[in-house]
Amino acid sequence: MTDIEEEVDFEVDPEDLGDAPALQVDSDRLSLLVNDLHVSYRVFGAKKVGHGPARDWGLLDRLVRRGAKQPAIREVKAVRGITFAANHGEAIGIIGVNGSGKSTLLRAIAGLIPPVSGTVHVAGNPALLGVNAVLMKNLSGARNIMIGALALGLSRNEVKERFDDIVEFAEIGEFVNLPMKSYSSGMGARLRFAISASAVPDILMIDEALSTGDAGFRAKSKAKMDEIRESAGTVFLVSHSLATIQSMCTRVLWIHEGKLVMDGEPREVCGSYKQFVADRKRHAASQK
Ligand SMILES: Nc1ncnc2c1ncn2[C@@H]1O[C@H](COP(=O)(O)OP(=O)(O)OP(=O)(O)O)[C@@H](O)[C@H]1O
Ligand SMILES: [Mg+2]
Repeated sequence: MTDIEEEVDFEVDPEDLGDAPALQVDSDRLSLLVNDLHVSYRVFGAKKVGHGPARDWGLLDRLVRRGAKQPAIREVKAVRGITFAANHGEAIGIIGVNGSGKSTLLRAIAGLIPPVSGTVHVAGNPALLGVNAVLMKNLSGARNIMIGALALGLSRNEVKERFDDIVEFAEIGEFVNLPMKSYSSGMGARLRFAISASAVPDILMIDEALSTGDAGFRAKSKAKMDEIRESAGTVFLVSHSLATIQSMCTRVLWIHEGKLVMDGEPREVCGSYKQFVADRKRHAASQK
């Protein structure tokens, strides 16, 4: 997304944000502005999936399919009109049931998926733990450190300088020379985290990566997140562990079916979410 590279003017007037809910915007502290963001996937040959009515791509598509026997194309609306502003120094948890759109939101903020509509403005350089996207299981940890860190915008020399720190932080020792496919899930998660954190990004986005880490690594991760926040960065953390979210975040967004349901204080949002999940379970049980 070109917006990320551009100098962004953060003099945002909430009045200009149309129908979106009014935002508490303090332009000096703003690190990210997501305005009425819609993100979709195009799925080939699928029946209805995702949230809301799937879009039929129309008569032309049907005609083309009839001729060429091509599969149907469906649109999965994964993020459906999300608006929020994030400040420097915040650690923002993102919670929601499976498939609610959390990972998609992070991918869109990182510029990995173009939005259908709406905008994402980022002050500085966002790094999704989504170096995941560029890492290759068949290559060694060492090669992946190089690839991942280059993808995050470090120079070759910077990667060389930080290489030992990354290995030490990830606690993978000699495994650094083995292919990543030989790593345990915890080791893989630690290495991904260490690579992502090596760039000291302005916005660090972590998707589930901590869930496989052990307690010691969790503590280190928290320290790294705090360091990024103290250097005026912003951290996003997607996790299904409400305990992790509550211990690490200053604010929580709850997403459901691609929409923002609640945005606020961690205890309050996690409490409402827990209640919602319990109600849903009870409802599902009563349907049996
Ligand atoms: N690559 C993809 N192609 C097509 N549809 C996708 C793709 N990735 C996600 N989706 C769909 O988009 C919706 C949102 O998915 P997303 O992965 O963002 O949810 P999530 O909240 O991260 O879920 P989880 O908690 O399981 O990680 C779901 O309906 C999912 O099926
Ligand atoms: Mg996800």
